[in-house]
Amino acid sequence: MIKKAVIPAAGLGTRFLPATKAQPKEMLPIIDTPIIQYVVQECVDSGIEDILIISGKGKRSIEDHFDRNFELESRIQEKEDEALYTQLRHIESMANIHFIRQKELNGLGDAIYHARFHCEREPFVVLLGDTIIDSVIPVTQQLIDSYEQYQQTVIAVETVPWEKVPRYGIVGGNNLSDRVLQLTELIEKPDRKHAPSNLAIAGRYILTPEIFSALEKTPRGKGNEIQLTDALRILLKKEGIIATIIEGKRYDNGNKMDFLKTTVEFALKRKEFAGDFEKFLRETIDILDKQTASSRKRNSP
Ligand code: UTP
Repeated sequence: MIKKAVIPAAGLGTRFLPATKAQPKEMLPIIDTPIIQYVVQECVDSGIEDILIISGKGKRSIEDHFDRNFELESRIQEKEDEALYTQLRHIESMANIHFIRQKELNGLGDAIYHARFHCEREPFVVLLGDTIIDSVIPVTQQLIDSYEQYQQTVIAVETVPWEKVPRYGIVGGNNLSDRVLQLTELIEKPDRKHAPSNLAIAGRYILTPEIFSALEKTPRGKGNEIQLTDALRILLKKEGIIATIIEGKRYDNGNKMDFLKTTVEFALKRKEFAGDFEKFLRETIDILDKQTASSRKRNSP
């Protein structure tokens, strides 16, 4: 049984500056809900309620978000907005959330190493705090199912277009089933020629406590940081690791383009916006089409 999750959320978020100068990227809202709340919800939907968030400098608002706010609650009660009140109470009671601070930003591997006392005896899930995966079955649940079947470290992967392979951690291995591979290779940002596949690591993992001794042996890698992928490569020499091809759509909200796409796609799914927002998008596309047509006309001989 997997009962614990770790959410690294201490990073600087430099790709999202200036928004992240004084606020965590994990707290940027998709419409009205911070990214990290979607991540916590994925844990809860997968039956995990013990969550350790790796926090750090400038991340206090994450703690406040999952804490109780009596003043706000009583204001909402005065307004007799029962639905909003229930929503607020849900946030602080959705899971048993702990925090630990990563004092120096030494990379994702180092962030996970901070979970060693919390997770020293049992396998645990890792969910990147800036990555939302939209799926019918929560991706964490998909990984738990794989772990229960194979009893090995599990990495979530997704197929990416070949031209994007050099941007990701890529895995290679032998098929155990349609969606599960026994890994033989893990390569960080390979060039296309040397990539064993176009299956990219997708921001969710099930790790066993053995990862902590692998992390102790992991030298600083890319960006002078302790990289989780490097630790997994060390682990792969000692024990089996599998990859599960996830069913779902991943949004890496650490980059602005994915953030925009998440906002648009999630708004279209929300009943209260869907009609108006879709109309607005269609009108916008219409204007763009007209602009393109008239500039073609102008430029044609
Ligand atoms: P990213 O690779 O997106 O790193 O981390 P980052 O440093 O936050 O972002 P950029 O590249 O500067 O824009 C993926 C997840 O791991 C956490 C981040 O908070 C994010 O949720 N992380 C990263 C840590 O907790 N500690 C670290 O040292 C690095």
